[in-house]
Amino acid sequence: MADPQELVSALSPIYGSDLAVSQAERYTRALALFCRRYGPGPVRVFRAPGRVNLIGEHTDYNHGFVMPVAIDRDILLLARPRPDATVCLYNVETRFPPVSFPVSSRVPSAPAGHWSNYARGVVQRLAQEAGRPLRGMDVLVDGEAPWGVPRGSGLSSSSALSVALALAFAAVNDLSFPRHHLARLCQEAEWYTGTRGGIMDQFNALLARPHHALFLDTRPRPDGTYTTAYAPLPEAYRLLVADSGVHHDNVRGEYNLRVMECRAGVAILRQHFPDVTHLRDVQHIPWSALEPLLPEVVTLQTLQEQGLVVETVPGVAPDVPLRVRARVRHVWTENVRVQAALAAMERGDMAHLGTLMYEAHRSARDDYEISCAELETLVSAARELPGVLGARLTGAGWGGCVVILVEASAASAVVERLQERFYAVHHRVPEVFACRALGAGGEVNLPEKACI
Ligand code: GLA
Repeated sequence: MADPQELVSALSPIYGSDLAVSQAERYTRALALFCRRYGPGPVRVFRAPGRVNLIGEHTDYNHGFVMPVAIDRDILLLARPRPDATVCLYNVETRFPPVSFPVSSRVPSAPAGHWSNYARGVVQRLAQEAGRPLRGMDVLVDGEAPWGVPRGSGLSSSSALSVALALAFAAVNDLSFPRHHLARLCQEAEWYTGTRGGIMDQFNALLARPHHALFLDTRPRPDGTYTTAYAPLPEAYRLLVADSGVHHDNVRGEYNLRVMECRAGVAILRQHFPDVTHLRDVQHIPWSALEPLLPEVVTLQTLQEQGLVVETVPGVAPDVPLRVRARVRHVWTENVRVQAALAAMERGDMAHLGTLMYEAHRSARDDYEISCAELETLVSAARELPGVLGARLTGAGWGGCVVILVEASAASAVVERLQERFYAVHHRVPEVFACRALGAGGEVNLPEKACI
């Protein structure tokens, strides 16, 4: 068993010295559980963080700009290679029963919505990429509160799981990928679950840096690498995350519909600009020139009858109204805001960052229509509180969380006031917490990893 003091020293650089003690307890418990379940022997330890997106929503699948932050809530994953080609998953939260599945380039899926589908997607994608037989592993997953990434809150617990599992599976099979490439594989792996997500969450979990937001241009360069910049988060400010507690039943369906609406926009704009493959390709054209080219509402059926080639998304019916103009307006203006946000942070102008966050929220609410009453309560309450510079919904939307930029000295008062105001309207107390920006996920090198 690892020496407790050595464990704290090993975890301090990751979590900070004040959190390292409780993290050491968490790690010790996970190691003990692993050995109880799978027997004694060496164990490798991995972690991957959740994220809060400062600005740049629904831009990534359009090859636009995003600016996420890796938060101090993560998925801890312990792994040991197996002699056979089976992956065994055991979750510290016993309400998720253990599961196992074969390593294959066609892994059978669990019922829709089952947590193991994220792991299955990763194993399948890495097996395809490796093109050689791979070994399985025994795995323990610890995403439990208070240190785990809250689930269903739009803080990307699923990508944290995918990334932690990919790091472990690659490591036990001696597969080595550049991080940006692994992010791409993890993104594609998540399509296994049926959502056509972008690369923001996985990239951030693999390439974030402490005390910084990650500016990412999600359009890959021809060699498959990406343009990034790291925007400093000054000590004098805090990021608060307020959880609306709302989890829309059909986020996947709504999300895929937005992807479809953007693709319809691409198909329409391609008539005028033949090289357009993603909305990103019209970013240099003034919005006033684009707007008249885009119908307010159209259906896939109509576009196809007009002879347009539209890349479809599974599950979107041909007669569903697609609100193309407003969706494209959000994406176009959001890309402008993210670039402005990076410039503001680079010159330390956090007040301007806050203004951009409010604007981004309005666009997400009115043009992308991904807000809800509870998120509105949080953003409008935050806006009135002293010390708050900006607030907006973060993540896919339709519930989930709000991110609030606040002066450090006002943070605890803002938490209390927000809870009070939310309670007055919705009769329950939302979770609101300050998060710090930690670094990317990876293998955690503990001093002594063997179990007793
Ligand atoms: C989800 C997806 C991301 C991104 C956001 C919206 O979190 O996983 O790729 O599209 O929604 O910005």
